[in-house]
Amino acid sequence: MKKYFAKLNLKISKSNPLWSEYMNYACDHVEVSKFYPDTKGKQFLKDSFKQAWLPMQWFESEVELYSIMQQYDLKPKLFLVEAGHCYNWHKDGFRSVSLNIDLGNEPDYLVLFSENESLYTPIQRLVYEPGAPYILNTQKFHVSINYGNTDRYILTLSKYENVSLSGSPQGPYLEMLKDLEDQGLVDV
Ligand SMILES: [Fe+2]
Repeated sequence: MKKYFAKLNLKISKSNPLWSEYMNYACDHVEVSKFYPDTKGKQFLKDSFKQAWLPMQWFESEVELYSIMQQYDLKPKLFLVEAGHCYNWHKDGFRSVSLNIDLGNEPDYLVLFSENESLYTPIQRLVYEPGAPYILNTQKFHVSINYGNTDRYILTLSKYENVSLSGSPQGPYLEMLKDLEDQGLVDV
């Protein structure tokens, strides 16, 4: 399972202002390059999704999490998955690794990982515990589906690369996972 994701034994504190304020951040469409694997000729397609930058100051009181953010240069964003929408199967184009935190507790939400895009293939589901960070291998195929009637918000702390991540490097995820395990921060 940890080849796709792992849960950290940390929690955003209930007194953090982000819980009451994140909804005030408008998520606008942002254009991105979507990466296609080698089998499709390393093509890039312009695409878009809804996101907002969040203030770094919110995390200064989360001592252990903030330390990880500084160590790995993780920047906070809010992702919006509106009711009846999905982020289709993809690998992230410019994010080598990320920590995701579910801010809501709405049902009818699916996050799946897979090794490939084959017609019939094994999958692994990630069920978020609200407020807990999960380290995600963004270089494995994944999809987020909101098939309910309520918008879904995900806090995502990511390291952004200047160049596209063609070739699906696994190194950054595996290195960060091992480092967090060595610090005793990963649930077993
Ligand atoms: Fe993604």
